[in-house]
Amino acid sequence: MARKGLLIAFEGIDGTGKTTQLELLAQVLRQRGLSVVATREPTAGQYGRKIRELYKNRKSVTPEEELALFLDDRREHVAQVIAPALACGQVVLTDRYYYSTAAYQGAAGHDPQKIIAANELFAPVPDMVIMLEAPVSLGVHRVQKLRGETLNDFEQEEALLRVARIFAGLKGGNIRRLDGTGDAATVHALIMKNVADLFRVE
Ligand code: TYD
Repeated sequence: MARKGLLIAFEGIDGTGKTTQLELLAQVLRQRGLSVVATREPTAGQYGRKIRELYKNRKSVTPEEELALFLDDRREHVAQVIAPALACGQVVLTDRYYYSTAAYQGAAGHDPQKIIAANELFAPVPDMVIMLEAPVSLGVHRVQKLRGETLNDFEQEEALLRVARIFAGLKGGNIRRLDGTGDAATVHALIMKNVADLFRVE
């Protein structure tokens, strides 16, 4: 796959600030004149919509069907958004990527390493993974109290503890584990320090 652009994935459990931090980084990079594509998974496409229907009733599909939906969604995302943007030299920031599948579907019983291997057959490996870390209790608190949302079927605290454990154990030289407990400006500063290496040389 021809690749001139840069791919940065934001990962972590729910409520760690991925969405806020992705937007802040996108703003800075655009101010510097870079062409940025901000995107997310699950996508708004056909499979992403099916995934959202599961939020209220995850048990309506088997774990295998659930994993297949996330993979189909990602295949479409890579083909339609990520690969074309990278090919024309854009910076792609994605809110969740295949590390989420390893952690969430891994917590549901699949082998995380097999999930990563299956994804890397078709999904470009990110230049950097910003893994935001915060205690599960804080993540849940942020989702429930600050966003006023109830937890969807992927966000139940017990399952999230397993998800967090898998995220913590994932290995890769592209993974930067950053403390997501601070305020938005503090976490943003940490991220800027980490991505600096990627943007130094044109
Ligand atoms: P989230 O980022 O919270 O999106 P939204 O704002 O639409 O709720 O992601 C939705 C849920 O999907 C989240 O709890 C984690 C889960 N998920 C997986 O289980 N596997 C995956 O591969 C991805 C991308 C997400």
